[in-house]
Amino acid sequence: MSHKRAQFGTKLGVIAATVGSAVGLGNIWRFPYECGTNGGGAFLLVYIAFVFLLGIPTICAEFALGRHSRKGMPGSFRIASCNKRWDFLGYGAILAAFMILSFYSVVGGWTLDYIFDSCTGLFKQIPNSDRHQQFMNFVSGWRAVAWAIVFLIINFVVMVRGVQKGIEKVSNVMTPLLFVILIVFCVNSLFMPGAAKGLTFLFKPDFSKVTTDVVLRALGQAFFSLSLGMGCLVTYSSYFSDNTPLIKTAFQIGILDTLVAILAGVVIFPAVFTYGMQPAEGPTLVFEVLPNIFHDMPGGNIWSFLFFLLLALASLTSIISVSEVVVAFLCDEFKITRKRAAIIVTAVTCVTATLCSLSFGPLKSLNLFNLFDYISANILMTLGGLGICVFVGWRMKSEHFEQQMRLNSHVPGWLFSYIAGCIRYVCPVGIFIVFIAGLL
Ligand code: PHE
Repeated sequence: MSHKRAQFGTKLGVIAATVGSAVGLGNIWRFPYECGTNGGGAFLLVYIAFVFLLGIPTICAEFALGRHSRKGMPGSFRIASCNKRWDFLGYGAILAAFMILSFYSVVGGWTLDYIFDSCTGLFKQIPNSDRHQQFMNFVSGWRAVAWAIVFLIINFVVMVRGVQKGIEKVSNVMTPLLFVILIVFCVNSLFMPGAAKGLTFLFKPDFSKVTTDVVLRALGQAFFSLSLGMGCLVTYSSYFSDNTPLIKTAFQIGILDTLVAILAGVVIFPAVFTYGMQPAEGPTLVFEVLPNIFHDMPGGNIWSFLFFLLLALASLTSIISVSEVVVAFLCDEFKITRKRAAIIVTAVTCVTATLCSLSFGPLKSLNLFNLFDYISANILMTLGGLGICVFVGWRMKSEHFEQQMRLNSHVPGWLFSYIAGCIRYVCPVGIFIVFIAGLL
């Protein structure tokens, strides 16, 4: 019996869900800390170049593959090439998805804890000088593990409700709201004493800081933030209707996602310098900086509640899209129900997320958290993006690709040539060089 594949209901739903997947902790938590540890302005510049040169074309490649085949990972490769030789790319994607789910849910759990702390007024009670110790005590213990599991359970509930009812409804409301509140915080940060220093750090490139490792990390961050290279957008576009204009949607995602990351930088770096902190603090950066802001803001508890609520919801729309890759895989390949697939994903990640969370405490020497973060973004997603571009550029029939790009939308010749040229030549060569140079 063949099931009719689920589809997104409305145009807004498509945008909200794909932008919802892209915008998440990657922008607000990961971007500031990667930018902070990798030189600031120069990192940002390389990052933006990668979004337009490699990111947006790769989004188009994933979209073409997904909507043409109407399958997720690795089935889409099989349908578009009529053989199983490319399946390994799909399995790489599934592995990346599990790694991301594991550390992402830990950080998602931190946001839930901060929502709770905002309600109890904790940020107002603790002096800024004790903030670091307080946070380290929290992340190294079992309370953080418990919150990560709560986060995974919420994810489970949305997963089970399916594409339209779950994913689309949540995304429609939350993504625009997060945008608005970020702008409010930007304005607040611009009036801080450290504003000039912070903005200089973020926007003034110092090219002596650009090493090959920084370039690889910028690429990894671009792919992580755009949800690329692990089949997420292949899977989502398999639910698109034929009316969705793919190239336009790809640009919308790329631009909005970058804008949110820059806004997050404008919120964070002025505060970093105002409160005498280090931009190169690492994964805990945002969670140590933000409470200081709320501590000194009038109505801080209410603002922090709203901010972390929206951040948690933005992370939820992202983690749902990661889970969807695995759920679609299990449903398509093993013909099991959505619910059963969701149970499997949640059970496995509860274990791996616990190990990641304890990386800040008892399992410090193993540090699975940093390892999963590094391997998924900088290795699996960049190589996955490379594979998808090679596949779509050289293996998929070019008339199928062109048909998907042009379906129900007017695409000028130069734009089509730009996208097709990037997918065939610029992305494979560019990603390969960055990857090899970065590793060496
Ligand atoms: N792009 C998401 C974020 O920025 C994370 C993500 C990665 C989502 C990979 C889906 C796939 O938070």
